[in-house]
Amino acid sequence: MCGIVGYVGNKQAKPILLDCLSRLEYRGYDSSGVAVLDDNIKVYKDKVRVGVIQEKCPQLSGTLGVAHTRWATHGPPSLVNAHPHLDCTGRFAVVHNGVITNYQSLRKSLTAEGHKFISETDSEVIPHLIEKYFQDSIEKAVEDAIAMLDGSYSIIVLSEDASKLVVARKNSPLVIGIGDDEMFIASDVPAIISYTSKVIYLEDGDVGEVTRNNVKITRNGEETKRETQHITWGREDVQKAGYEHFMLKEIHEQPRVIRDTLVENDLLSTRLTISKSVESLSIIACGTSYNAGLIGEYIIQELLGIPTITAIGSEFNHRRTLYPGEAIAITQSGETADVLLAMKKLQSAGIKILAITNVQGSTASRIANRTIYIKAGPEVSVAATKSFVAQLIALYQLVLLHPDIDTEIRDQLAVDLQRIPITVEKVFDLEPQIMDYSRYLSEHDSAFFIGRGINYPIALEGALKLKEISYIHAEGYAAGELKHGPFALLYSGVPVIAIVAQDANHDSMVTSIKEIKARNAHVMALVDENDDSLDDLVDVVLKVPHSHSLLSPVVNTVPLQLLAYYTAKLRGCPIDFPRNLAKSVTVE
Ligand code: F6R
Repeated sequence: MCGIVGYVGNKQAKPILLDCLSRLEYRGYDSSGVAVLDDNIKVYKDKVRVGVIQEKCPQLSGTLGVAHTRWATHGPPSLVNAHPHLDCTGRFAVVHNGVITNYQSLRKSLTAEGHKFISETDSEVIPHLIEKYFQDSIEKAVEDAIAMLDGSYSIIVLSEDASKLVVARKNSPLVIGIGDDEMFIASDVPAIISYTSKVIYLEDGDVGEVTRNNVKITRNGEETKRETQHITWGREDVQKAGYEHFMLKEIHEQPRVIRDTLVENDLLSTRLTISKSVESLSIIACGTSYNAGLIGEYIIQELLGIPTITAIGSEFNHRRTLYPGEAIAITQSGETADVLLAMKKLQSAGIKILAITNVQGSTASRIANRTIYIKAGPEVSVAATKSFVAQLIALYQLVLLHPDIDTEIRDQLAVDLQRIPITVEKVFDLEPQIMDYSRYLSEHDSAFFIGRGINYPIALEGALKLKEISYIHAEGYAAGELKHGPFALLYSGVPVIAIVAQDANHDSMVTSIKEIKARNAHVMALVDENDDSLDDLVDVVLKVPHSHSLLSPVVNTVPLQLLAYYTAKLRGCPIDFPRNLAKSVTVE
């Protein structure tokens, strides 16, 4: 996690660095800092967010610098643990994203050689190693230093003796933006999109020397070329456009995102299908993407009859037995460490992987044999919303393109899928009702979300959204499971949100709701607009626009996102940047 940026150019570095950094706060925001080369390297950092550094940092006039926003892994948020970190002489400043797994032994041997450490971080070994190896070339010193590192890193190194920045990456993203007589470096494109849309993605093992008008990349000492890519989205995509929060903006973008994802993947259809006679499929993902994976599992089994298992990335990595066949890795960022590790495990077992990701050039897309790009555009809010529905759309398309699907169902679903953007637009008419119900929810400390069949993962997703941004303890359950334990937690008035689709599970859902009502819980039911069966049974009914029951997860997700949003707002939570969370989880 953590966000890093670098600037070398013809303008004052500090304002540009801090502006870029403010767009990376979704990667971490417990402390931040900047280092600029004036006569010597000047560092300003603290346990504060970027905005405070922007206000308080003294004037720095240099045109070369680095900056960092932190998501603490080694040592709590504090001034000394904040980046940039310096060596003993103060000649090298380093910002780092990733985790150096062998830092303790390195720190021990460097300490024995006389190096003095002031932080508890793993990162601080890097400037000390550079100091140790530096003779006359900063690139050579960085190469020698990273050769000692185990773990993951993207680093930007500022040296007092050079008018360039040196960068390196391994298992952690880094992108170089090319400007006019200036260069920008960042963990992710949104940081620099206001300045340039021409970028070079570094690959694992790359070391780069970046001056204001040149980028030189080497691997194992040999110079190598990397393609310059043009980013198609613009600066307006990383601004709030009048919305109070990115999350609300991103929820409202979903009709557009669905349309764009449908168009994009239809064009690419020939290379996207799962192989015809594949024995089984493993889907790997984490968090919200895992919930999308569960829906993928449901539709693949239901419509294609392929045995499919969805695994949480971090759990998959401990499995001894792999299923034969192919795999699908779902990851919005394409950088989630747990997913990448699982992908590498699958890759070394010779299993073909299809990645579904939102980020071009991401590590997941490079490991995968094939990639479906969802067209969510940059998602700034830590809570995933539009990327989730775009992942669902990609999974539906994947299934519809498969030769084994029944043609009648395929044709029906294909037509209904095209209507989904309009159906989702209609969900926004329910916003006043959702706001109303969020008042009730915001006054409780605990809530349950229940669903069955294809809407069970939506119960999980509804609970995940609520807990992460409103801090209300929320559980997602398969409705039939409540009686196997969680019933003990039902008390008079406890909010239960029931997702009821018009499918084969409808009557069992009604039975579960009756059991819950018998325990005096307060039930809000999300039902199809044509369904009157719960009108007299539950406390609140939210009627969502009709869709094919197999597509109902897409439609049902949106009111739950809005519910989480309005509840968090009433509770005064920092919606876009929930405590302890970061958008791109690049640590195991
Ligand atoms: C929740 C959320 C996380 C991510 C998870 C995986 O709103 O955003 O649960 O879904 O960290 O991230 P990606 O999809 O980037 O692999």
